[in-house]
Amino acid sequence: MKESGNALFDFILFGGSGDLALRKLLPALYHLYRSTPFQPAARIISVGRSLIRRESYLEKVEAKLQQFLPVESWDEVSWQQFAKHLHYVSIDAHRSESYRALKEHLSTDERPRVFYFSTHSSLYGTIAASLGSHGFITPSSRVVLEKPVGRHLASALVISGQMSNFFTESQIYRIDHYLGKETVQNLLVLRFANPLFESLWNHHYIDHIQISISESIGVEGRGEFYEETGALRDIVQNHLLQLLCIVAMEPPPNLDADRIRDEKLKVLRSLRPVENGNINHQVVRGQYTAGTVDGKTCPGYCEEEGVSDTSNVETFVALKVLIDNMRWSGVPFYLRTGKRLPRRSCEIVVQFKEIPHWIFASAKGQMMNNQLVITLQPNESITLKLCGKRFGPGMDVRTIDLNLSPTFRGNKRSPEAYERLLLDVINGDPTLFLRQDELEQAWLWVDPILNHWENSSAPPEYYAAGSWGPAGSTLLLAQDGRVWYEGVK
Ligand code: BG6
Repeated sequence: MKESGNALFDFILFGGSGDLALRKLLPALYHLYRSTPFQPAARIISVGRSLIRRESYLEKVEAKLQQFLPVESWDEVSWQQFAKHLHYVSIDAHRSESYRALKEHLSTDERPRVFYFSTHSSLYGTIAASLGSHGFITPSSRVVLEKPVGRHLASALVISGQMSNFFTESQIYRIDHYLGKETVQNLLVLRFANPLFESLWNHHYIDHIQISISESIGVEGRGEFYEETGALRDIVQNHLLQLLCIVAMEPPPNLDADRIRDEKLKVLRSLRPVENGNINHQVVRGQYTAGTVDGKTCPGYCEEEGVSDTSNVETFVALKVLIDNMRWSGVPFYLRTGKRLPRRSCEIVVQFKEIPHWIFASAKGQMMNNQLVITLQPNESITLKLCGKRFGPGMDVRTIDLNLSPTFRGNKRSPEAYERLLLDVINGDPTLFLRQDELEQAWLWVDPILNHWENSSAPPEYYAAGSWGPAGSTLLLAQDGRVWYEGVK
């Protein structure tokens, strides 16, 4: 990531009143501004459908920043300065003539122009066409596409065709904010700067790998969006598969964007297809019912606003994934994500194989396997669980935690994923964004599962809010003699 160095840009945010803009994107821009103020002429132009005045929009953003920013990040003076960069334009995405209103807000110099599409992806083509017909797309323009791009491979290809009429591939930034998380990049360093790990990172030494993204929140007023999306499209097709790629890929020859993407693509191409006959054995589809999370009672998914009371949409998915290549042959990757689970966390757990012959006593009288636990959130850490001797007589072996988390962070706030990625777009660095072929390959793999569910009348497995998901999720691992890592409670 280059430094933010007094950036000058036009940042046009479609979906500027939406949940993502208010919860993540504008807070990220505010943080960027606080760390290095933009040039006075830089503009953030929020686009929304509502006919509201700039003042009302600013009031709304101010309230949301106060709600979503960490308390220590909010300060009135920075907000007042930041707000000077913020504009609002009302556009009806379907009415091409309404885009004319954008013209007076756009600069006429050569600065980067970033169009951020944070709307339903079915609108991407329409927005691009209107921007094109008004001549708003310049050679220094970039477009950021929020995930999920499309609902399956076919619709993703349609969107790709529409975008390519107006933007070149190098102007398209397909964002997956999990790639902007600090620990994900640290994982690249851990893997490729330490021969210690690289030599063990294969089927000879690794038993299996778990990647979990769990959330304690429900659909948070996004019921309508979620009804169309579900956990497979919302998290598995993008965040979980991208994490899997980073864990499983071969070392790229260098850090060039395309060399990293080439390696991720090879992983996606090596995923063993989940065929119809295996779906029920390898994929668990769950939906939460009423329950208690963090001491608060929560409604079931079907009782949420905007959700049909007979909905079969999944709020939980667990999968067993196999990678058919030399490095990973026979090593299962278990992926899991869900809403209304007991806590918010994201962990990658690398479970090493048993030592062939165990000669020690131990707390439970059994051998203990090494584990590498990479925690992306809530608190970033990397811990290697090794065996060590308990101090004193005898040979009492215990698990000891070796903390591998970077210690050179000092008191620095860890930047939010979107901060880094938005700055990368402004600076024109595509390394942490997806290429079209990766996107297609991910859909190609996920599509059979989606089709199977769409053609089946079977309901999802239910789980009470506040539990770790349906019984099938435990069984998925139990049938292989394994258990989910549940970390620090
Ligand atoms: C988004 C999903 O991509 O990621 C949301 O659409 C989810 O449903 C969010 O809540 C989780 O992101 P994070 O960074 O808070 O783990």
